[in-house]
This record gives sequence, structure tokens and C-alpha cells, in this order.
Amino acid sequence: MLDHSGREIDYLRISVTDRCNLRCRYCMPEGIKCLPMPEILTYEEICTIAETAAELGIRHIKLTGGEPLVRRGVISLVERLKAVLGIEAVTMTTNGILLEKELPSLIDAGLDAVNISLDTMDRGKYREITGTDGLDTVLSAVSAACAAGRTGLPGPADPAGCPADSPEGSAEAAPGRRLRVKINAVSLDLGEDNLHALINIAKDMPVDVRFIEMMPIGFGRDFPSLSHTVLLEKLKAMHPGIQKDDRHHGYGPAVYYTIPGYQGSVGLISAIHGKFCGTCNRVRLTSQGYLKTCLCYNDGADLRAVLRAGLPETEMRAALFESMREAILSKPDAHCFDKPAQITENAGMNAIGG
Ligand code: GTP
Ligand code: 5AD
Ligand code: SF4
Repeated sequence: MLDHSGREIDYLRISVTDRCNLRCRYCMPEGIKCLPMPEILTYEEICTIAETAAELGIRHIKLTGGEPLVRRGVISLVERLKAVLGIEAVTMTTNGILLEKELPSLIDAGLDAVNISLDTMDRGKYREITGTDGLDTVLSAVSAACAAGRTGLPGPADPAGCPADSPEGSAEAAPGRRLRVKINAVSLDLGEDNLHALINIAKDMPVDVRFIEMMPIGFGRDFPSLSHTVLLEKLKAMHPGIQKDDRHHGYGPAVYYTIPGYQGSVGLISAIHGKFCGTCNRVRLTSQGYLKTCLCYNDGADLRAVLRAGLPETEMRAALFESMREAILSKPDAHCFDKPAQITENAGMNAIGG
């Protein structure tokens, strides 16, 4: 559906849990309390919301956390969401620690793409940022996901298997048949060695490597947001042949660039220095069932209250539809990350899901 300023809202991010098996300093440092399970939506409730969202025009679902793979049964949720009428793609953003062993089941369940968070290729810095010595595990998951992406599932006209090989461009050419892989690196460590090492992943594998400007949400407030204007200049100096890549890579706000000879693209998600609110296509569902209409504000609708109000099924669904419709309609026009006093979101990113 269209919101009040004419933006088409067709993407829903669903946080399935606020728990995580890492302790990234900018997201969920040591000592953060997690929500008790009864406060978290059941999968049944999530599916009811997804069905209503699809009626309202949502076509793409992103599963996030905390870490989505720490919640038991999440793979069957993928399968159920894929079966919701109107939903065209279900993707997941994960820290990659538990990914490798779940890959076959995720692919069987129909997951369309996976984004793996990896901020640095330096083992010591990875441990410093996340609190865990997990770099090798994540890199192994990246390779495995990529290999799974190449093989994919059997399907008609399945081209070579690498995202960048496919005719429509990199990420979303053959929905439902192949796992597309991206890396998310929050721009914390933009030293030359780390930049080289991260970007080289896109050279060696058909993986898009994306850099994300730190946003002043949750503990992210305590970290400076390194500017992507500066990063782009660095990338141009490192790779004079770099070119804007207008192919379709996903449903998110990243701007992509190709480097000659590289299999994957480099993406920039520049919420601060390249504000993309005018083309925003999304809303978020927190693990507690709050429909958040912008990352920056606590505007939205308490859908859990509607689900648990004890209404008969038909009335509950009608009330859910109306709550969601009204919230989407009045989605804020833009973030105000440059005016911290006006930010009304106090939750951490682990509770919001990025
Ligand atoms: P795909 O490209 O389709 O995989 O989607 P995506 O890039 O939106 O997914 P992902 O979960 O990997 O998000 C990457 C980063 O973009 C995270 O840091 C998000 O917080 C950030 N991001 C995603 N959507 C928005 C948005 O609407 N506004 C802002 N400011 N940041 C966003
Ligand atoms: N700003 C930008 N990105 C963030 N993420 C977590 N916190 C922030 C923040 N404050 C990233 C994670 C993950 C994605 C879902 O969001 O690193 O890649
Ligand atoms: Fe959309 Fe809000 Fe993100 Fe801007 S900050 S792109 S309006 S969710």
C-alpha cells in the first residue's frame, strides 16, 4: 500500500527474537537483559501478522533478531512465511555463527537470500567488537552459503548460479531457487587493510559486500558514524575502474558499485550521509509485536495487544488490518538522526532488528 506521502510500502522486517549469541558493542553489549518469552510473539502470531501484511501489499519479508537463528523453529517459520499468499521473498539477516549447519534446511525451507554481518577481517578486532572468537566460523559460513548459492535448488532456467552471472543482475534474479549472499559490515574499521580484505571477498566469491554507516540508535549512539562520502573516495582511489551498478540486488537501501574482475558488488548503506528516506519501502515488526514505522521514532502500532485482546478470529483480523493500515499510512517522512534530541526510539538494535 502507499503511505501518506506516496511511498509504496512492500517490505516488512520481522525481528523474531531480541536474543543474540554475540555481544556486539554497538548493538547488544554484555549485561543487556532479554525479554521473557511470553512477551515475544509466537510463530502463530507472526504468521497472522504476515498474512495481514500481505493483504496490505507487503511482498518481501526479512527475518532479523537479535540473531534469528538462536530461536528454535525459525526454519519452519521461513517455510510458513514462504507459503503466505502474496509473499514473494523471505530473506534473513544473521551474524553467521550458527548459519553453516542450518544452511541445507534453510534452503529447503525456501529462504531466498541471506545477509551475514561481518565488520572486520581482523581476528582480534572481530573478538573485540563481538566478544567472541568467531571470525573463522563466520568466514566458513560465508563460503558454505556461497557454495549453496551456486548449487541452489533445482528449477527451470537456473542460470550459472552466481548472483552476478545472472541476466537480471546480481541478487534477486531467480527468487526461490537460489540463495543469494551479502555481507554487512558496519563502517567501524575502514583502515586500508580491512577494506581490502573485506572487498576481496567480493572478488573471490559471488557475494555483495556492503558497508553500513553507524546509526545513532541504541548503543550505536556511542560510536562515530564514519562518512561514506569519504569511503567512496577511498574506494575510487583503490579501484579507479569502480562504477555505479544499477542492477537489482535486493529490497534494501544500499547503492551498489562494480569493480572490474570482481564477482560480487560493493554496496553502501549510507543512512546518515546519503539519506534515503524518500524511497523508503519498509516497516518493522519487533519481537514484542510492535509495528514500527521508522527506525528513528517509536511511532507505530501495538499489534500484540490486538492479537491478545481476546476478540473472535474475524474481528481480530479486521482490527489487525485496520491498525496496520493506519500505522503504515502515517509513517514518518524521514529520520532526524542529525537532531538527536528529536529521536524518540529508545530501544536497542537487538530489539528492533536493524
Ligand atoms: P536487502 O538488500 O534486501 O537484503 O535488505 P537490507 O539491506 O535492508 O537488509 P539488512 O537487514 O541487511 O540491512 C542492512 C542495514 O541497513 C542494517 O544496518 C539496517 O539497519 C539498515 N537499514 C535497513 N533498512 C533501513 C531503513 O529503512 N532505514 C535505515 N536508516 N536503515 C536501514
Ligand atoms: N547502525 C547501523 N547498523 C547497525 N547494525 C546494528 N546496529 C547498527 C547501528 N546502530 C547492523 C548489524 C547488522 C544489521 C542488521 O544492522 O551489524 O548487520
Ligand atoms: Fe525509512 Fe525511517 Fe529508515 Fe528513513 S530512517 S529510511 S524513513 S525507516
